[in-house]
Amino acid sequence: MKVLVVGSGGREHAIVWKLSQSRHVDKIYCTPGNAGIADIAECISVDTSDFKGLIDFVKYDWIDLTFVGPEEPLSRGIVDAFEKEGRKIVGPTKDAAQLESSKVFSKDFMRRYKIPTAEYKVFSSHPQAEDYVRMKGAPIVIKADGLAAGKGVIVASTVDEAIKAIRLIMKDRAFGDAGDRIVVEECLQGEEASFMAFTDGITIVPMVSSQDHKRVYDQDKGPNTGGMGAYSPAPVVTKELEELVMEKVMKPTVLGMKSEGIVFKGILYAGLMIKDGVPNVLEFNCRLGDPETQPVLMRLDSDFYEICDAIACQKLSEINISWKDEAAVCVVLASGGYPGKYDKGKIISGLDEAAKVADSFVFHAGTSFENGKIATNGGRVLGVTATGADIAAAKAKAYEAVSKISFEGMHYRKDIADRAIKR
Ligand code: AMP
Ligand code: GLY
Repeated sequence: MKVLVVGSGGREHAIVWKLSQSRHVDKIYCTPGNAGIADIAECISVDTSDFKGLIDFVKYDWIDLTFVGPEEPLSRGIVDAFEKEGRKIVGPTKDAAQLESSKVFSKDFMRRYKIPTAEYKVFSSHPQAEDYVRMKGAPIVIKADGLAAGKGVIVASTVDEAIKAIRLIMKDRAFGDAGDRIVVEECLQGEEASFMAFTDGITIVPMVSSQDHKRVYDQDKGPNTGGMGAYSPAPVVTKELEELVMEKVMKPTVLGMKSEGIVFKGILYAGLMIKDGVPNVLEFNCRLGDPETQPVLMRLDSDFYEICDAIACQKLSEINISWKDEAAVCVVLASGGYPGKYDKGKIISGLDEAAKVADSFVFHAGTSFENGKIATNGGRVLGVTATGADIAAAKAKAYEAVSKISFEGMHYRKDIADRAIKR
């Protein structure tokens, strides 16, 4: 079988890496890919927004299945375009992807189906939103409705901060149309976890639990990032909690979608806030998390192509999905300045040494080739991931591999997974 993977991050490297182990897969293409992906897949340069170009490529090269990593093409209807041409693709349609692409859609959907989430109100004009915030007080959360590259959510600890956020989104239009409407939401306390599941619109199979680290510095200090590291399993997600989330969140979501005539196929990701064993949904994503995918796919025992094929063909109930009974930890190495401005093109050294560390794998996120050498090409550069008997063992191996790698300006968190170890 031939597979095309759409995307260029650490998540896509993990997807390509796992697919390359499948007994069914002979050849993998990735667009645009990165320097690490190029080791196991042929990277092509069809623009990921050019659906016609992608479909032509898939037809011309007899690609059997396409897997979409990031939310952006999903939210613009890549799955609709492929399915219209009879091409097999893993991911939700544009309508289904609204669970991620519109916070207003997602919150109203949760309200309709009584899915536990923070109390909220929607505004399309800023003076009214400001009045509401003054009445409610802080802490309070302001969310731009549309996709804003992970920057559209502001957890405000004062009313002033909340008003600034409202003005930034609605008056200054910092995120363009994504800020036409906002959600103002109650601030929840507790511990966060990522709950991802495979679904074909009928059957829902939860993946092993995971947790990411959104803040840039140790002890959760500094601004939010795309994710500075992740680990799996997340001890906060007990067996009872998993059952509760399946009953209260995942099943009502897929069934609710179905009752509205929308088949949700692909990956359903609920970002949860858990307090005293009670989960609330902070957000839905309609794709695999990054960097959670790196440790989660390292723990997958089953053939990933078979899972993808079963999702696309709505036969998920016919396969068994098994996981390795071990832990995995991923440490993200970032460019100097990230999540703010950063330079690119810094040569990375030590990758060969890191590759020798047992049970570890270095997933590339923002890398490219510079005169035959591997160089930085993004904010998040590498996701150094390792498995072990428990989280502490996995963490030790991941940081051993990290210690071999360097590039100018490199920074990373030293406390990835400590939260799980201390519990
Ligand atoms: P979202 O994109 O909606 O998940 O928001 C990004 C991050 O903002 C989350 O991972 C949380 O850390 C935080 N956040 C979002 N909504 C809330 C909330 N209602 N209460 C507290 N923190 C939140
Ligand atoms: N790591 C969070 C996300 O992928 O949205």
